[in-house]
Amino acid sequence: MNTSSIQLLQLDFSPRGDRSHSRQMGHEFVAAWQTAHPAGRVVTRDFGANPPPFVTEAWIEGAFTPPAGHSPSARAAMSVSNAYIEELLAANEILITTPIYNLSVPAALKAWIDQIVRPGLTFEAVPEGGYRGLVAGKRVRVLTASGADFRPTGSFGAYNFIEPYLRAIFGFIGITEVEFVYTHSHNLSDAARVAALEEAIEAARKLAVT
Ligand SMILES: Cc1cc2nc3c(=O)[nH]c(=O)nc-3n(C[C@H](O)[C@H](O)[C@H](O)COP(=O)(O)O)c2cc1C
Repeated sequence: MNTSSIQLLQLDFSPRGDRSHSRQMGHEFVAAWQTAHPAGRVVTRDFGANPPPFVTEAWIEGAFTPPAGHSPSARAAMSVSNAYIEELLAANEILITTPIYNLSVPAALKAWIDQIVRPGLTFEAVPEGGYRGLVAGKRVRVLTASGADFRPTGSFGAYNFIEPYLRAIFGFIGITEVEFVYTHSHNLSDAARVAALEEAIEAARKLAVT
């Protein structure tokens, strides 16, 4: 695949298809982004429908031993991980649309993170101790949906493990520009759901052009 001209990498994690609120925000974000970048290229991965594979023993062999000695299953595991990393490195911006599941990221999003956080490719150990992120010059936008109010200042803000976790793990690989938009309170009432979604779509459109 030619990844040389990717501008926006859109990763969708809700399995709910057209009923998904996070995907709805994503559509609006991408429409606004395309208006602002008519020549820009959008690459989309539907990880809600086709989740990334989990880490396996073959994956660990592939990620932590030299390629020359890899078994066929380690090579196969690395080809998936390498493709995700190639897309990430080729993108200027990464758009993540995701539900909040059980206070944090859905398993599909965690599986993608486990695929792209790789020693020597997206982070490395430094001689003086600790680690250094290798992914520079990118920004991540996270559009997230939840049944309750998980905004940091919202009634369930204390249970919001998605934002601190994503900030930490993207920071670990070198991406510190991470923005969040929340559509929330979908379980509260129809009025609350509609109001929150309208506000979030507006915020997503603005974020797409900043
Ligand atoms: C397995 C599961 C776990 C969920 N956990 C939470 C949660 O911890 N907090 C919350 O507010 N909503 C939770 N919800 C509700 C979803 O976040 C909400 O329906 C959201 O709109 C889903 O995103 P989507 O519309 O993009 O599919 C959960 C839903 C499911 C199916």
